[in-house]
Amino acid sequence: MAIPYAHYEQSAAYIRERLNGFIPKVALILGSGLGPIGDLVEDAVVVPYGEIPHFKTSTAPGHRGRLVFGTLAGRRVAVMQGRMHHYEGYSYEDTVYALRVLRLLGCDTLIVTNAAGCANPDWHAGDLMLITDQIKLFSESPLRGENLPEFGTRFPDASYLYAPRLREIARTAAAEQGVLLREGVYFYCYGPQFETPAEVRAARLLGGDAVGMSTAPEAIAAAHCGMETLGFSMLTNMAAGLQDHPLSEEEVIETGNAAREQFTRLVLGCLERL
Ligand code: HPA
Repeated sequence: MAIPYAHYEQSAAYIRERLNGFIPKVALILGSGLGPIGDLVEDAVVVPYGEIPHFKTSTAPGHRGRLVFGTLAGRRVAVMQGRMHHYEGYSYEDTVYALRVLRLLGCDTLIVTNAAGCANPDWHAGDLMLITDQIKLFSESPLRGENLPEFGTRFPDASYLYAPRLREIARTAAAEQGVLLREGVYFYCYGPQFETPAEVRAARLLGGDAVGMSTAPEAIAAAHCGMETLGFSMLTNMAAGLQDHPLSEEEVIETGNAAREQFTRLVLGCLERL
């Protein structure tokens, strides 16, 4: 069922009251294992998802389920520590609900991050990838159903889901910090099972470099409501069939932890340049 626009407004009104006039500009969605970036926010106002009218909670491991507002690298941010995934049972509309509320609060830029499997055989587990584009062919759109014109048009353009201007900023930040930043296409798979080796080969044939279970719906909704998006994948493991052992959540978490510091520096470097 379509979520009425009034719900988004009511969620935003509740949060606005907690913010005492603070208006966030950059929304950050932090994926698996990346939530600690939110702990660096200065003068933080923390709002748990469970307190906000109409909000969903995030149930995935490592997703704390709260919004953190404040200043990070000199920018006014709204950090989602934990996101809502389709595999948790949420509709695609639900998965982008929080992001749309952040848009109503004032955010016009999105930095979205995730943990993903590496489908490019020339790269390595632990590499960081700048998302240049995405493929989300086999699942419905978060914009399906009645269009909410308060957010955007019925048929939004998707030529530049990941803004070229922001990608250039990311390249500059990575070069300055000596961080190796791959660039590639994020191939969305809805999970929660990891992909089969045949699915990874198919993703590769179609042009994917990374496979993952989030981000793509959010990038679509962000474009629809006029936000610019910068996206990063932390490639926590070689995707199924590209390594000689079964995938596990533990492996994803371990590699994620090892690459986290570098990843945090990169995100902060991008924020400084926005
Ligand atoms: N596939 C999908 N999602 C993931 C993976 C993967 O291999 N690794 C971390 N998140």
